[in-house]
Amino acid sequence: MNYIPYLILLISYIIYKLIQNYQLQKFAKKNGCKQPIKLPTPTILSKLGLEMIINSKKNEKEGLGNEKIYQGLQSLNTSTFETIIFFKKFIMTIEPENLRCMMSSANFNDWNIGFRPKAFGILLGNSIFSSEGGHWKDSRTLLRPFFAKDHIKHITNMEPFVDRVIKLIKKTNGKTIINLQDIFQDFTMDYTTYLLLGESSDSLKERLGEPIKETISEKTRSQFTWAFDTLAPKLMMRALLGHFMFLYNPTNMQKCIDIQHEFVDYYVQKALKMSSEELDKKSEGGTLFLYELAKHTKDPIVLRDNILSIILAGRNTTSGLMTFLFMELSRNPDIFNKLKEIIRSTFPDLQSITYESTQNCDYLRWCINETLRVHPSVPNESKTASKNVILPKGGGPDNQSPILIKKGQQVLYPLWSSNRNPKYFGPEPLIFKPERWAHLPRNGGIAFFPFSIGPRACLGQQLALIEASYITIRLLQTFNNLEWCGNSKDEPLRKSVSATMRLLDGCNVIMS
Ligand code: HEM
Ligand SMILES: *[C@@H]1O[C@H](CO)[C@@H](O)[C@H](O)[C@H]1NC(C)=O
Ligand SMILES: *[C@@H]1O[C@H](CO)[C@@H](O)[C@H](O)[C@H]1NC(C)=O
Ligand SMILES: *[C@@H]1O[C@H](CO)[C@@H](O)[C@H](O)[C@H]1NC(C)=O
Ligand SMILES: *[C@@H]1O[C@H](CO)[C@@H](O)[C@H](O)[C@H]1NC(C)=O
Repeated sequence: MNYIPYLILLISYIIYKLIQNYQLQKFAKKNGCKQPIKLPTPTILSKLGLEMIINSKKNEKEGLGNEKIYQGLQSLNTSTFETIIFFKKFIMTIEPENLRCMMSSANFNDWNIGFRPKAFGILLGNSIFSSEGGHWKDSRTLLRPFFAKDHIKHITNMEPFVDRVIKLIKKTNGKTIINLQDIFQDFTMDYTTYLLLGESSDSLKERLGEPIKETISEKTRSQFTWAFDTLAPKLMMRALLGHFMFLYNPTNMQKCIDIQHEFVDYYVQKALKMSSEELDKKSEGGTLFLYELAKHTKDPIVLRDNILSIILAGRNTTSGLMTFLFMELSRNPDIFNKLKEIIRSTFPDLQSITYESTQNCDYLRWCINETLRVHPSVPNESKTASKNVILPKGGGPDNQSPILIKKGQQVLYPLWSSNRNPKYFGPEPLIFKPERWAHLPRNGGIAFFPFSIGPRACLGQQLALIEASYITIRLLQTFNNLEWCGNSKDEPLRKSVSATMRLLDGCNVIMS
């Protein structure tokens, strides 16, 4: 007889679920919601959402994940569809109203960042990139002042690093192929570590065979970049696995974490030992991050975790922007020559390159924004619903009705596809054409948000734009020719489809 309590429990659970479902349907109906189109699931594997996981190695090699989503949206003639990945329903949408709704400060508490805190927390603790609520707010408040215009205006501190890039290119004598992607990856790592820690990882010097002034042990410094690059994809995988991440224990994970912590801790300890006068002097007018930050907090963990967070968020994204811009310039000689002429007349020398003058060079800004449109460094935005919510668009056969997003459901917004919508970006959206910006609103219009929007938008937007502008100006001042040596223009470019975009085959050019 003692199964009766269980039976009662089961029946009450079913009734509870039925009521909940009824209330949910009523809520949806009241708000005029309609079902979004479903991505066809012809096979059993696709019904369970396992196809993507099983084919992940093949897809990774193909490097055309963004293109596939774009084609899916085109062939279904839809802006929104429902799909299933790893047993879970997802909504994919390219309606700008939906992203604006998800990211707006009014709805901030309705959405969360899913498994990111748990997946990235093992490296980044409760820092800006990997936390929510109070911890996130504290970090954001602490870090924001550093990214204000006044602090990032000192662009001449980039010159030694750009000089090394120029030297490396000159070493090829215009004869051998150089992979600009690797060079830009080193540049952003070197400059970011300098800006954040006051001392650079100096990988460009290493490439040049120049002597490096050692303060930290050689081993820790040279291992840092390796540990950083090795760990990042593993953390992404953890986020993707969600509840199942505990099953995933790749080798070297803890080692990579320890190396990164040791590297940053060294500088943090150094800063924490300084008096406030020493900090003032060392922060170079507030432009060196750690020394400025150490005036506001003495917590070594907060300092270390936030510094790692910023490197993670700012490094591949910015080098991606530079890489894709130079890829386009090398494949489009007319655009390269036009930009070169404009740069040489606007910026005849070093002194003419200032924060203000780069802001006023329209064609340069068009080229940069066109790169962010066609090749967004962060190709997807995503949020998870913290409660049952309504998104304004995407339901019904014409996608014009609101849709219901259930608590716990993730919404993915593929920028790569939405940036190719002719409705917002004009005709021939697949083509790289900086001139289209002459006809677009100055901020790119309601569908342009490569740095996201709302309270959690990118903190480093201005810094990234100034870095990309400066290096472009300096390279086009110096070099006359840029020639693409990668695959032919008709073949698709293979890209890594992880959190940030990268060319799988590199950005191979000859520059002289
Ligand atoms: C072209 C370059 C860049 C692009 C396209 C970019 C894009 C983005 C995007 C889309 C987000 C929102 C991510 C999300 O929550 O889903 C973000 C966040 C962030 N970015 Fe950037 N970013 C770039 C460069 C930088 C740089 C140079 C820095 C700093 C040095 C930086 C620091 C951050 C930080 C700290 C966040 C987290 C903000 C928060 O959660 O409150 N980013 N970025
Ligand atoms: C981002 O989108 C691409 C295709 O657009 C997809 O292959 C990739 O898995 C997505 N990344 C994440 C983290 O969802
Ligand atoms: C950055 O790019 C490198 C390859 O150059 C890769 O190994 C690393 O995992 C990437 N990091 C992030 C955070 O995506
Ligand atoms: C695609 O959808 C739009 C509106 O949702 C409609 O106007 C158009 O006729 C459709 N095109 C095709 C080929 O079905
Ligand atoms: C480029 O895009 C940014 C938004 O990411 C915007 O603030 C800026 O005004 C745009 N520049 C031009 C010239 O359209």
